[in-house]
Amino acid sequence: MTDPKLRVLIPAGRIQARIRELGEQISRDYPDGKLHMICILKGAVFFMTDLARALTIHVSLDFMGISTYGKGKTTSGEVKVTKDLDASLEGDDVLIVEDIVDSGVTLNYLFHLLEQRKPRSIRIAALLDKPERRLRPVHVTYVGFQIPDEFVVGYGLDYAERYRNLDDLCVLGGETTG
Ligand code: IMP
Ligand code: MG
Repeated sequence: MTDPKLRVLIPAGRIQARIRELGEQISRDYPDGKLHMICILKGAVFFMTDLARALTIHVSLDFMGISTYGKGKTTSGEVKVTKDLDASLEGDDVLIVEDIVDSGVTLNYLFHLLEQRKPRSIRIAALLDKPERRLRPVHVTYVGFQIPDEFVVGYGLDYAERYRNLDDLCVLGGETTG
């Protein structure tokens, strides 16, 4: 896709190499050999499917829909569950898989919500972290990349539902910034 508004920040090859590293680390960290992965829709879908295939342990998958952002780039600060999980988490080793931690509002809310469902353990994996933007504390055990405070799209991340299908992670600039 040639789009003058896009600038590659992390090329596909680096994303995939980092996911392989995370996969090795996570596989080592769960010696029982079982992990229940929860994908936060929709941005984390690409990361989740690649990360799951980088694991050498057994995984089960579930999906949760959350809305915080509207159609643009600014958060409403409000978290709403739009699709709940299919299965209980009781006794499971749970890994929440998210695309990006920005203000931390979403994951702070979600972590506490899912913790109440009595998992055996619960951790977070996020492909991207924008630490400068944090408003709420979140402990992310597995971080792919720390990035500066710029709006990014691609590899699952969108602007108004566009650009999710780019292989590279790109900065979206131009007239849409704001
Ligand atoms: P938080 O609650 O502010 O941490 O926001 C997390 C959610 O905001 C992510 O799951 C994304 O859907 C969205 N988001 C935050 N920053 C970006 C970005 O740079 N590009 C696309 N989506 C983003
Ligand atoms: Mg989003």
